[in-house]
Amino acid sequence: MTNLDPRVIRREFPIFENNPGLVFLDTAASAQKPRSVIDGIAQFYRTDYANVHRGVYRLSARSTELYEEARERTRRFINAEDASEIIFVRGATEAINLVSNTFGPAFLKAGDEVVLTELEHHSNIVPWQLLRDRIGIKIVPVPIEATGGLDMGALEQAIGPKTKLVAVTHLANATGALLPVAAIARLSHERGAKLLVDGCQAIPRMPVDVRAIDCDFYAFSGHKMYGPTGIGVLYGKRDLLNAMPPWQGGGDMIMSVTFEETLYQKTPHRFEAGTPDISGAVGLTAAIDFMEGLGREAILDHEEALTGYGVDKLSAMPGVNLVVAGQRRLGVLSFDVEGVHPHDLATILDSHQVAVRAGHHCAQPLMDKLNLAATARASLGVYNDESDIDALVAAIKDAQEMFQR
Ligand code: ALA
Repeated sequence: MTNLDPRVIRREFPIFENNPGLVFLDTAASAQKPRSVIDGIAQFYRTDYANVHRGVYRLSARSTELYEEARERTRRFINAEDASEIIFVRGATEAINLVSNTFGPAFLKAGDEVVLTELEHHSNIVPWQLLRDRIGIKIVPVPIEATGGLDMGALEQAIGPKTKLVAVTHLANATGALLPVAAIARLSHERGAKLLVDGCQAIPRMPVDVRAIDCDFYAFSGHKMYGPTGIGVLYGKRDLLNAMPPWQGGGDMIMSVTFEETLYQKTPHRFEAGTPDISGAVGLTAAIDFMEGLGREAILDHEEALTGYGVDKLSAMPGVNLVVAGQRRLGVLSFDVEGVHPHDLATILDSHQVAVRAGHHCAQPLMDKLNLAATARASLGVYNDESDIDALVAAIKDAQEMFQR
């Protein structure tokens, strides 16, 4: 047992009140929202809302203050050095696309290499393919080991003199494999490459310190960490961000505009063209408050203990094969039930009110490598406990019986 009490935490999430009996095991796709986030956003619209960085009137100043407070809170949440290193974007996908569209053409040329891993989500593959098609870079995928972890020897070999960027997931969304990102940062920097980490699945589950990792970029989404959809974060080292050209043009990212020439703001405003997701940032602050209220270490302990319980239970089931996840698996249990297609399985589980995701999990290259067309995936959050895993196990047994009949 850990310090968190999911039964108490569940009371903070209206979704469970409104869907009695729901066993929600799809937090890796998107986390449910605590009342403080839902109400915090509504309250902001009721009392403090106006556009930011524009008005001289008090309401706009207040809204701007809350928006910039979200930036400062996010800085502290990931231990960045300066708030200007926090860029608000739509989500991790947009964060990675921002890097591929700005850092990419400015720092890479034809023949340069971007090193990825076989564990990546499509959002950390396709932006690099778009860049490849645009400027002729080469993508170098690093294989996983038979046990599901990243082959660090192969990674070391893959990072060569032409590697300008290494882009890896912190925690693989399809398998739950946790990667040693600080070691990967050291390796990348020794060879003169920058490191981008896709932190989407790690940020809701463990403390993240971008300075301890020493990554150059870290991307994550608000909606996976109990915050609203539509807001995400790109962290980047300040000098690097200031050396990158802007991506989208528009209001708020400029210092001056004439028809001949535009002078741009420094980071972060340089990368935040147009009216941002102000209420999303306010919601993100509420999500940070929520997670810090529980304690990031306590969340990690909880995720780890429940992952272990799930691994034990699922591994003990005949006909259930857990997908390998390397040395350390966190928060994600991907599996296959012999004789039952994952989509059929997910539909049967749903009839038991057990919500899991089935499919390729936006990681088709990984599925190809694992020789699987699809898996069922149960993923954990702070509101889950052993009873949810037990309900999953019972529902899987029911599906097995149905398919044996
Ligand atoms: N990336 C999300 C997932 O893994 C949507 O389900």
